[in-house]
Amino acid sequence: MSGARLIGLFDSGVGGISVMKEVRRLLPAEDLAYFADSAYCPYGGRLLEFIRERAFVISDFLLSRGVKLIVIASNTTSIAALDVVRERINVPVVGIEPAVKPAVSATRNGKVGVLATEVTLSGGRFNALVERYGNGVEVFTQPCPGLVELVESGRWERPEAGPLLCRYLEPMLARGVDTIVLGCTHYPFLRFLVEEIAGPEIKIIDTGEAVARQVVRVLEKFNLGNMNAGPGGEQFFTSGEPEKVGPVVRLLWGEPGISVERVTC
Ligand code: DGL
Repeated sequence: MSGARLIGLFDSGVGGISVMKEVRRLLPAEDLAYFADSAYCPYGGRLLEFIRERAFVISDFLLSRGVKLIVIASNTTSIAALDVVRERINVPVVGIEPAVKPAVSATRNGKVGVLATEVTLSGGRFNALVERYGNGVEVFTQPCPGLVELVESGRWERPEAGPLLCRYLEPMLARGVDTIVLGCTHYPFLRFLVEEIAGPEIKIIDTGEAVARQVVRVLEKFNLGNMNAGPGGEQFFTSGEPEKVGPVVRLLWGEPGISVERVTC
């Protein structure tokens, strides 16, 4: 790990940028490298073995760029591959999981909804999370095919976005949930729509900031923090087509000058 200075983050696509924004907010001096596996996005309905294989390939690529810590900025990939990636590489790895525990603390009526991908919700890891932290709270889950694609297209203001989200939210709203977990890193970019449909009484929880705080703790623990005073920079990579991915990355990250480099892996 000698000389490694970057924090690497990856996701199936651009969703993990919601986590990267929180990391940047808490760690302005760190250099960040983001990998969007756009050629294989979405992961949400894929086999675990496939997601693990991609996680290995991408972590190897990030290590070759000199990362000192990796954030798996994807609930789906963390559910499928966090343990095996940790076993395989020798830098700290931070994962993300749906915020069941904070939602259980936040609910006033004991009813919580979780929006996530099929892989996330059907994994043993998610069930274990509910068993461990559920504390008698009713947890309603909803897989949301199509939402990731909407964010990846960069056109979530499209007329079909509202009706699609309504279809996913209505069943849990009808059951009376007062707290909704955004259990996929793409969904914070659709938060405005969730708020619009669910109304002001419903609490919405996402995990980006908690993950960023964990990154800060891990850097401190291993004494890996960047001591430079200057602002950190960002690099963006994709397995997809930069002409398509670039505009969405620029939109989400909010800087028009960013370039996205294609990596074949
Ligand atoms: N953004 C990811 C997550 O948090 C992956 C979504 C997907 O590719 O289906 O689950």
